[in-house]
Amino acid sequence: MGNPAQKRLIRKLELELFLSQMESQPSPKASLEQYTVSEAIAATMLYLAAYTNGDIIGKTVLDLGCGTGKLALAASYLGAQCVVGVDIDKTAIKTASENSEKAGSRTNVQWVLGDIGAVTGSFDTVLQNPPFGVQKRAADRKFLEKALEVGNVVYSLHNHPCTDKQLIQRLKANPGGLLQIAPSPFIEKFVGGRHGVVQAVYAMLMTIPRMFDFHTKMKHDFVVDLYLIKKSE
Ligand SMILES: C[S@@+](CC[C@H](N)C(=O)[O-])C[C@H]1O[C@@H](n2cnc3c(N)ncnc32)[C@H](O)[C@@H]1O
Repeated sequence: MGNPAQKRLIRKLELELFLSQMESQPSPKASLEQYTVSEAIAATMLYLAAYTNGDIIGKTVLDLGCGTGKLALAASYLGAQCVVGVDIDKTAIKTASENSEKAGSRTNVQWVLGDIGAVTGSFDTVLQNPPFGVQKRAADRKFLEKALEVGNVVYSLHNHPCTDKQLIQRLKANPGGLLQIAPSPFIEKFVGGRHGVVQAVYAMLMTIPRMFDFHTKMKHDFVVDLYLIKKSE
């Protein structure tokens, strides 16, 4: 179903405000790395996808591992033609669907409870903030594989491979900004082996509140890398 929002340009701040009204996961599970993307990162990612690259408005969009639904809801709010959000966790899907209700007619997302491995079909754009593999090694690879199987363009968030203090300082000096960086050779090779090409990588500073017992600070700043990947065939 079309979204009337697509007829006008949505300001980034308005998108952040819309996302800030959404509920977070009530009892996040560390084993599934259920941390929620920050509003600022979600808005930057969706802005780039929608207004710089033309990959959201009027497109079919899939959010793999949608959690509470921020990326899917933002895509729908900006005017995607059809949006599907998939997550393996019942509570996440329940919260995402409650968030949809809260957004009312501003969004229209189909929420699916299930493993991403079961997803079939074809989507113009895949959005994902997969588990980084901190709890379960290489958890993000399954997401990349599925995204390239069903999507033409993929926006995928990954943990920056090392602590780069200089990069953090540069990002702190430019709040809400992104810096183009080189891809990790591993991800580039992994994607290349699955008919994908990394088009660009942007480093961004993400701040999340303390969520799990092993978090030692009240808030945690870290660098996430946004990969823009296209199918090569
Ligand atoms: C880092 S969280 C991101 C949540 C949401 N996309 C966001 O950015 O706020 C990763 C999500 O992937 C889900 N997940 C992990 N493994 C999955 C799988 N095999 N199939 C479907 N969802 C999965 C988790 O339940 C969790 O909600």
